[in-house]
Amino acid sequence: MKAPLTSKQIPPPPQMTNLLAVRSLRTYFKTDEGLLKAVDGVDLDIAPGTTVGVIGESGSGKSVTAQSVMRIVPKPGFIANGQIWFRRKNHQLVDLASLSPRGTEIRAIRGGEISMIFQEPMTSLSPVHTIGNQLMEAILLHRTKDKQAAREIALDMLTRVEISNPTQRFNEYPHQLSGGMRQRVMIAMALSCHPSLLIADEPTTALDVTVQAQVLELLKHLQDEFGMAVMYITHNLGVIAEIADQVNVMYLGRVVERTHTVELFKNPLHPYTQRLLQSIPRLDGRSRTHLDAIEGNVPIPLNFPRQCGFYSRCSKAVPGRCDVSVPALVKIDDQHDVRCFLYSDEEEPLP
Ligand SMILES: Nc1ncnc2c1ncn2[C@@H]1O[C@H](COP(=O)(O)OP(=O)(O)OP(=O)(O)O)[C@@H](O)[C@H]1O
Ligand SMILES: [Mg+2]
Repeated sequence: MKAPLTSKQIPPPPQMTNLLAVRSLRTYFKTDEGLLKAVDGVDLDIAPGTTVGVIGESGSGKSVTAQSVMRIVPKPGFIANGQIWFRRKNHQLVDLASLSPRGTEIRAIRGGEISMIFQEPMTSLSPVHTIGNQLMEAILLHRTKDKQAAREIALDMLTRVEISNPTQRFNEYPHQLSGGMRQRVMIAMALSCHPSLLIADEPTTALDVTVQAQVLELLKHLQDEFGMAVMYITHNLGVIAEIADQVNVMYLGRVVERTHTVELFKNPLHPYTQRLLQSIPRLDGRSRTHLDAIEGNVPIPLNFPRQCGFYSRCSKAVPGRCDVSVPALVKIDDQHDVRCFLYSDEEEPLP
């Protein structure tokens, strides 16, 4: 019998033109109650320079997917399986999942080629160092060893993210800035090394609506300027409609539907996506854009039976079919994939 391929031997997708190609990613947490399967077979593609949305309710595995790409999954979490192909600036393809999480290669990629911004900038900004020093530190690590040059780049970045009085702000501490300003500093820091991929995990959620819109505008503008790809994680369908080229809908650790944004809004196929879209505001503005408008919760992926994750909440579920196996993510046409037995009998193979 042939030995199964180990992750390191699995070749990248043929003729991979994407910047990022995640394949069968499984990221689990060891808990006292058993293995919590936060990410349970995610496939995700990002073409260079595009914005790819990842949407889904709380607990669907969006952040853990992002943490896996960055290789910053906190303990007791670990990547159990899968590949994360990333095209480096030198055009080399590397499987991030196979790298040592503290090795030199991932440290060069993290911050230098893939950067991340979070919902709460204070979790990534140090309260005891000035904005300028923190920006310079990132730049000195990845871009130049020359302090004066780093200072100029830092000031330039503060100007680009439209922070007023950059020379004064340079010497201030994070707590002296408003939430919106702190998020701009985070963006400046994330972009200071010209990453080819920016992962934005709910970066505007903590901000009020006007500031949210400004930060979103800024991100779009900077993306055009820098030409980077963006993986944009959010609950908010309005934000997705505004910013994303492609959308991945996640549910219980899996991508259940993916297509380009216009198609998703026009022709949602998965019953879960259909429900999400029903929760979008109507003209009377009464319902909410947030996905928690759907009743019930995402189950906890602990000792979860092998069935469609949405089974218990799905109005179109077929007992004896949807509760005994997991549908595979299948191509409906060139640009639209869905994971649902309504469209195909194909089952997800056992991991
Ligand atoms: N550090 C951790 N330890 C244990 N379980 C975790 C940890 N982080 C996430 N999980 C679990 O993994 C699953 C996916 O969580 P994740 O944070 O990726 O969801 P999310 O889609 O980002 O949700 P949200 O929209 O609330 O940010 C959840 O069941 C969550 O409880
Ligand atoms: Mg999250």
